[in-house]
Amino acid sequence: MSDNTAKLTMGDKSWDLKVRPGSIGPDVVDIASLYAQTGCFTYDPGFTSTASCESAITYIDGDEGTLLYRGYPIEQLAEHGDFLESCYLLLYGELPTKAQKDDFVHRVTYHTMIHEQMSRFFTGFRRDAHPMAIMVGTVGALSAFYHDSTDISDPHQRMVASLRMIAKMPTLAAMAYKYHVGQPFVYPRNDLDYASNFLHMCFAVPCEEYKVNPVLARAMDRIFILHADHEQNASTSTVRLAGSSGANPFACIAAGIACLWGPAHGGANEAALNMLSEIGSVDRIPEYIARAKDKNDPFRLMGFGHRVYKNYDPRARIMQKTTHEVLAELGIRDDPLLDVAMELEKIALNDDYFVEKKLYPNIDFYSGITLRALGFPTTMFTVLFALARTVGWIAQWKEMVEDPSQKIGRPRQLYTGAAQRDYLPISQRR
Ligand code: SDX
Repeated sequence: MSDNTAKLTMGDKSWDLKVRPGSIGPDVVDIASLYAQTGCFTYDPGFTSTASCESAITYIDGDEGTLLYRGYPIEQLAEHGDFLESCYLLLYGELPTKAQKDDFVHRVTYHTMIHEQMSRFFTGFRRDAHPMAIMVGTVGALSAFYHDSTDISDPHQRMVASLRMIAKMPTLAAMAYKYHVGQPFVYPRNDLDYASNFLHMCFAVPCEEYKVNPVLARAMDRIFILHADHEQNASTSTVRLAGSSGANPFACIAAGIACLWGPAHGGANEAALNMLSEIGSVDRIPEYIARAKDKNDPFRLMGFGHRVYKNYDPRARIMQKTTHEVLAELGIRDDPLLDVAMELEKIALNDDYFVEKKLYPNIDFYSGITLRALGFPTTMFTVLFALARTVGWIAQWKEMVEDPSQKIGRPRQLYTGAAQRDYLPISQRR
């Protein structure tokens, strides 16, 4: 790329387009004035080569398999930090001092309760409603209860809404689970850390005391860290687009939850575990590998492949390690699904099809085995993804709202429909 311009030539005309370098990673060709200059749009379905915004939050190097939150490698944050520390980092841009962390934890802790009337929303759902459907409904409904933090032009209200979302998602997620299994809701406890409080709200029952296993709580907290943010993925782009119209943060997060639900995105953790269960045993793996490679078969290996990672997803490595820790702590010597997953990974990583297309396990490949071992039904897997990703969605939404250059997102199209034609009375139609 020449110094800081790219030349576009069409016919006998040419234009210089500004090239902007990032702090790390690919440069961008600024095409904001392209339509005004050339009368043409660019065309990039799925945004495979399009940067939708400028961001300083998360960086991914797909070839290297690198993931940084505000410059810190995910491996170090998962090893040495905890989820609320990563939340502070994603929101404010720096690791907190002890005083800052204590204050942040206190503020989140004292926002974990939800308005008592919100619990009535749950009774409107069937007991077998998918928990993600419940989350889309109840998170969107938060804007009906917290009018004092929906004015996005007010920095204080933006921060209060951010804290409320991070604090209340575990409470709503646990309530969705409890409603699903027909048990009474369990209130948050201020004496428990974030992950322990969530496990307690999910698995405690009124009949006896529930002691949170610290090893499992640590694993849950680490899983939250791994899922916290991931650049401009589909659900984050949905939150940004919804937010660009000025919609309130609760509505934007509800839109993100809806997008995350899809099996090609966050729904892949549920789909991956269902796939492993369907394969059932190691000897049936070749049949499914063949199906994944068959152009005429819509079957894909769930938990495999990624738009950005063309190397091993660094989160999948940490997740695999966490899976072994959790199974060991629970005394699960041999989990047939883990055997299938490990063998499937080994076979796929040595198969030309997957090697050529650079398809590696992603974060969703091992997470289902871990979450199932922790006691969650498969329908709750994507809810846990949404719980953790809320801080990423909020941080990206906040960055967009505070970006002076931001404007409403409004893509154009390549029109291939009918040219203008006149109305035909029905009597004349053939
Ligand atoms: C997440 O974007 C993010 O950052 C998302 C995420 C996050 O943290 O927010 O990382 C979370 O969504 C992880 C991805 C979870 N989804 C799955 O595991 C579902 C299975 N994977 C695929 O559906 C697919 O890999 C995607 C959707 C993840 C990526 O699709 P792309 O980038 O559009 O790639 P593609 O569909 O164009 O595939 C490229 C080729 C195709 O073959 P050809 O048409 O070129 O011959 O690879 C093939 C695909 O058929 N392929 C697969 C495959 N994934 C891609 N073949 C078999 N099994 C697969 N899983």
